[in-house]
Amino acid sequence: MALEINNLTVELCAGKDESGCINVVDSLFLSVKEGEVVSIVGESGSGKSFLGLSILKLNPQGVSRIVSGEIKISCKSQNVEADILKLKPDELTDVRGKIISMIFQDPNTSLNPVMKIGEQITEAILTHKKISKKEAKDIAVKYLNYMNIDGLARFNSYPYELSGGMRQRVMIAMAMVLNPCFLIADEPTTALDVTTSLQVLKLIKEIKEKSGVGIIFITHDLTVARSISDRTYVFYAGQVMESGNTEDIINNPAHPYTISLIKSIPSLSPDYVPKQKLFNISGYLTKDDFKNGKCRFYSRCFKRDDGCLNDIGLRNFPDSENGGKYGRAVRCIKFNSRGGAK
Ligand SMILES: Nc1ncnc2c1ncn2[C@@H]1O[C@H](COP(=O)(O)OP(=O)(O)O)[C@@H](O)[C@H]1O
Ligand SMILES: [Mg+2]
Repeated sequence: MALEINNLTVELCAGKDESGCINVVDSLFLSVKEGEVVSIVGESGSGKSFLGLSILKLNPQGVSRIVSGEIKISCKSQNVEADILKLKPDELTDVRGKIISMIFQDPNTSLNPVMKIGEQITEAILTHKKISKKEAKDIAVKYLNYMNIDGLARFNSYPYELSGGMRQRVMIAMAMVLNPCFLIADEPTTALDVTTSLQVLKLIKEIKEKSGVGIIFITHDLTVARSISDRTYVFYAGQVMESGNTEDIINNPAHPYTISLIKSIPSLSPDYVPKQKLFNISGYLTKDDFKNGKCRFYSRCFKRDDGCLNDIGLRNFPDSENGGKYGRAVRCIKFNSRGGAK
């Protein structure tokens, strides 16, 4: 069982002509296996949500278009093997929710405020399964219980009657009721306070272990990625800048963007001095950074030179700590294959 994205490019066009188009997802390769959590880490505006939506072909119509690539899924429990980009509309509807589910950042806007939570979950089940309402209710209650919410007592609650953490757990229950092979979780803990966020992360880990679901976990927070994922893709302006085993990336970052990111997080930075001003990556991510013809991190990079004014490809290299077991990749010409940036 696996989800494999090969060379996916998704463009977003703002103006009327081609010059207004940028690749919000650019030549992306990504895979996730059964029972594996991979993180996509990158700052706000990098295109992470866009990527998550594109996997389900939910990228905004009219302004964006999937230019090329493959999104191959193999899901034994549902007996499906396909390229999502080649599916007919009705087949695609079946994939959404049943084979790949998505949890969004904000449970307040994702749940229907005027519908009882039990009914919302039951409706999600009945859209895909030909079973009785009673059977669907039993499944909904079971999954709510599984998320540490008293399913029977809370079945008739409205979203506003629940706390933020409970609402997010309802969203996870809803994403899991059809027993999908893959879950895309788009910043599911960002809107939550620290304690609730930790509870939700723990639940996601339990789900992975119990159900074997493969999870793509989107976050802007490398410490969250560390707590939950086996592998990480560091994403910047629509491109993977670096990928590999999460611990290996944190301990031996290769790309200047990853190095800068780690330096700006006190708990991860090896040279952090308490009470001193924290390292800050200068400048901002702008739409121009998404243009091809140069390294997308060029305008903010501490290692840049004229050699970076070309399209830069991803290069593989063995990870330093694990004898090459996991394999690393970096999109930087200033990278020294013996470790770190030159
Ligand atoms: N519906 C849309 N229409 C136009 N531009 C969009 C739309 N959604 C996102 N974008 C643009 O695409 C880029 C990536 O956004 P997004 O995927 O939301 O980033 P992230 O999730 O990493 O914060 C941003 O520059 C954003 O302004
Ligand atoms: Mg987002």
